[in-house]
Amino acid sequence: MKNYTAALTLTLLLGATVTLFGLTWADLASIRPPGPLKTTPPDRRLIQQGERLVLTNCAHCHSNDEGRLTGKPIDGVSASLGRIVSANITKDSVQGIGRWSDIQLVTLLRTGVDPKGYKAHFIMPRYPLLADADMQAIVAFLRSNEYSVQTTRYTGPAHKPSILSGFISTFFIKRLPEPKQPIPLPDTVKSLLYGRYLVNSRYQCFACHSAYVQKANLLQPEKTKGYLAGGSKFDDTDEKFVYSANLTSDPETGFGRYTEAEFREVMHLGKKRSGQIVRSPMLPYPLMNNREINAIYQYLKSVPPVHHPISR
Ligand code: HEC
Ligand code: HEC
Repeated sequence: MKNYTAALTLTLLLGATVTLFGLTWADLASIRPPGPLKTTPPDRRLIQQGERLVLTNCAHCHSNDEGRLTGKPIDGVSASLGRIVSANITKDSVQGIGRWSDIQLVTLLRTGVDPKGYKAHFIMPRYPLLADADMQAIVAFLRSNEYSVQTTRYTGPAHKPSILSGFISTFFIKRLPEPKQPIPLPDTVKSLLYGRYLVNSRYQCFACHSAYVQKANLLQPEKTKGYLAGGSKFDDTDEKFVYSANLTSDPETGFGRYTEAEFREVMHLGKKRSGQIVRSPMLPYPLMNNREINAIYQYLKSVPPVHHPISR
């Protein structure tokens, strides 16, 4: 009897609380702990953050001339890899990702493996350490009704990777493991931690700015050979080579003499401290906000100096 009363009181109390907050029992049943990759209902701020991340990290490879993410042939890729065409990532249900589930999309972005179990070409970056919140924002944007992701077909030449591409993919590219735990976004007020996250995960500056872009350790960035000391070789579009800059705090050969204002200028406008414009594949990041600029700046200044002159 006592138990029964207690249960009844509890039910009434819960009922009262629920009514108080204007919820119904059905609502209560649908409340779940926030999962790491919950993308519905659409949230304006999330979509906007996703748009900023996609415009910064993906659009230079996936956007056509009209700003639609239909995919396109990638410039500046060594001819020995064949003709590399990025995928259509609009909501088109045949060519694009309209039929992919959120999980399939996240798996591709983290591991590099598509829903059919095939590895995407290794030119396509992978983001094993991207925070769940950033991943969620990217997915929300790709699912939105914004102009660049609306259903659009690609009509250019087909993706035709060479035998060498296939060989590298088969023997040298491994599927990356999926994270076993949620990946939280670091506190954006703690500059060093946030800066490290931006350099290693959100923008993966370290991959290009270490010794060999091909050997970037995506799972443990700091273990990459020549971490942030520059020198990785790239094909420039004029068939010359360009080497990535040393971003360690070394004042002679590295980033040590950059002021924050100069750094903002190279990030936003592509103008180096020397006055020259950065060459491809380095691109300006016009959408980078001041907190990001400041955090990356603080972090790079904290990276132990490595004396490593870079050929021009
Ligand atoms: C350096 C160029 C480059 C960048 C940057 C890039 N991609 Fe890609 N992406 C590619 C290429 C090339 C392919 C085609 C790979 C293939 O078909 O094997 C591709 C394929 C894809 C696919 C489809 C994979 C498949 O198997 O069909 C998705 C989805 C995708 N990219 C999303 C993104 C997103 C989201 C971003 C940004 C977070 C991004 N990509 C950044 C070049 C790039
Ligand atoms: C796709 C490869 C790539 C990525 C990604 C990349 N960079 Fe670069 N970066 C380069 C290359 C190559 C150069 C050298 C360009 C030149 O010499 O004109 C360069 C140049 C620079 C310079 C100019 C240094 C100088 O000599 O004055 C700075 C600063 C810089 N990068 C910072 C960054 C930061 C910060 C990020 C991440 C937010 C980043 N880069 C991402 C390849 C890359």
